[in-house]
Amino acid sequence: MTLPDPVASPYRVSMVCLGNICRSPMAEAVLAARLADAGLDDLVEVDSGGTGSWHVGHQADARARAVLARHGYDADGHRARQVDPDWFSTHDLVVAMDHDNARTLRRLAPDADAAARVVLLRSFDPASSADDQLVPDPYYGDERDFVDGLAIIERSVDGLVAALRVHLAVDG
Ligand code: 4NP
Repeated sequence: MTLPDPVASPYRVSMVCLGNICRSPMAEAVLAARLADAGLDDLVEVDSGGTGSWHVGHQADARARAVLARHGYDADGHRARQVDPDWFSTHDLVVAMDHDNARTLRRLAPDADAAARVVLLRSFDPASSADDQLVPDPYYGDERDFVDGLAIIERSVDGLVAALRVHLAVDG
């Protein structure tokens, strides 16, 4: 997949789900860790948001924090935010966890150029198929769903980092 050209440096990525308490904080924490490990954190910044407003100001879901901590990630400082259409003028890539989030984001986008900056996280997952493009919502699930979700997110984020390296012409 070809990524949109940067509007500025650093390249700014936002991870987006519905509530911004489960999937997108996990995706933000994993991408932040991968960027730091790769020494790319000066070139790429990550944050996250939700299309819904119910959880604005809340910490990440305790189940998400627990599974992240067990795998060496940290989202303890996270506070949920709702996506603002202005984000399209400050972010290069808006990464949706599922098709509903992507549809909502494209509706919020002020123009076609902004809408083209919305991508699905799983489009970077080498193990996903054309009809398997979402990170399932674990909110009404159990711990297993959070563990499975994190594995999907890790695979997808690795693919995203590889795409960012190519796009930003970073060796590695
Ligand atoms: P997330 O999960 O979109 O991965 O943060 C959800 C969190 C809250 C709700 C739905 C999904 N909710 O309906 O409150």
